[in-house]
Amino acid sequence: MSDSIVKPVDELTAETRRLIQPYVFKRLEARRPRIPGRKIARTITVTSGKGGVGKTNFVANLAICLGQAGRRVIILDADLGLANIDVVFGIRPKRTLSDVINGAFTINEILIPGPCGINIIAGGSGLADMTHLKPEQTTRLFDQLRFLEDRADFLLIDTGAGISQNVISFCLAADSIIVVTTPEPTALADAYGIIKVISQSRPEADVSVLVNRAEHEEEARFIHERLRNVAWEFLQFSVKELGYLPQDRQMYLAVRQQTPLMLFSPMSPAAVRLRDIVVTAFNEIATEVDLDNTLQNEDSEADPSRPAAAAVGIEGFLERLGRLWRGIPAP
Ligand SMILES: Nc1ncnc2c1ncn2[C@@H]1O[C@H](COP(=O)(O)OP(=O)(O)O)[C@@H](O)[C@H]1O
Ligand SMILES: [Mg+2]
Repeated sequence: MSDSIVKPVDELTAETRRLIQPYVFKRLEARRPRIPGRKIARTITVTSGKGGVGKTNFVANLAICLGQAGRRVIILDADLGLANIDVVFGIRPKRTLSDVINGAFTINEILIPGPCGINIIAGGSGLADMTHLKPEQTTRLFDQLRFLEDRADFLLIDTGAGISQNVISFCLAADSIIVVTTPEPTALADAYGIIKVISQSRPEADVSVLVNRAEHEEEARFIHERLRNVAWEFLQFSVKELGYLPQDRQMYLAVRQQTPLMLFSPMSPAAVRLRDIVVTAFNEIATEVDLDNTLQNEDSEADPSRPAAAAVGIEGFLERLGRLWRGIPAP
């Protein structure tokens, strides 16, 4: 029996493929920057203050959307309490990142193939103490994660809710952070809470907000405006708007079928909005860096007055993560 009940894109009906693929491909190809240089994997951490706001489903569907657009995506499930990206995809991981930390398997051996060419890394219980790994475990883990630079255009990191050191370190280390909230006041207050922590530790962090389960566009705009204004007024921190996804019953049905919405109901309102977000926000993200610029960046990092946060991709991510973990006192 197959591990997955998710339909790969080539098993979708001909109409569905005609509807979604040319649309995404054409617009992305047309606007993708073509800079000759080194391939990098952009790291994006998805988080929220409050739980149950839709992070995991957003990560899964974003990955599929990017995969359908020809981008190579790896998802790292770093939600330690309620790791459930596997549930959304209807898969049962046999190996996890713990096996890499313990030296039992390589990163290639634990990647779980998903639909549309995406790969999934199950976090596993070994991640529970991620911020307190032994030095040799960190070295082993980082040596393996480095291989992902060549294998992915995007590393999407799904985290748990709240402001544990684990979640915060994944936020602070990533190239970009997406904070998911719903319009509910509790979710909004908690989203602000995590933005506050991020802004205080990394004032140059690239933070965007996604409003999920909005009743209508006006409501989402209002939420975006409130968060942006309060963050600017009280933290002097600017947050970007990623957009919104509407409340969509198909999402609930997709979760029940353990099939991501993008495959379960690709023309449903939330799927259509997500595709628009990918086309407008993600195709601007270059996954190649100009070698000349990289050299300049490396030079400028020698200057202690400049934050060493300019490095992008997995290499920059690991460098920041290593620094953050070392700074955390042992329990
Ligand atoms: N846009 C949406 N419309 C309707 N229901 C949604 C939407 N997004 C998420 N949900 C519901 O919220 C539940 C929790 O989503 P999940 O992605 O697991 O949240 P989190 O990862 O933040 O805990 C899902 O099982 C789904 O039923
Ligand atoms: Mg989740």
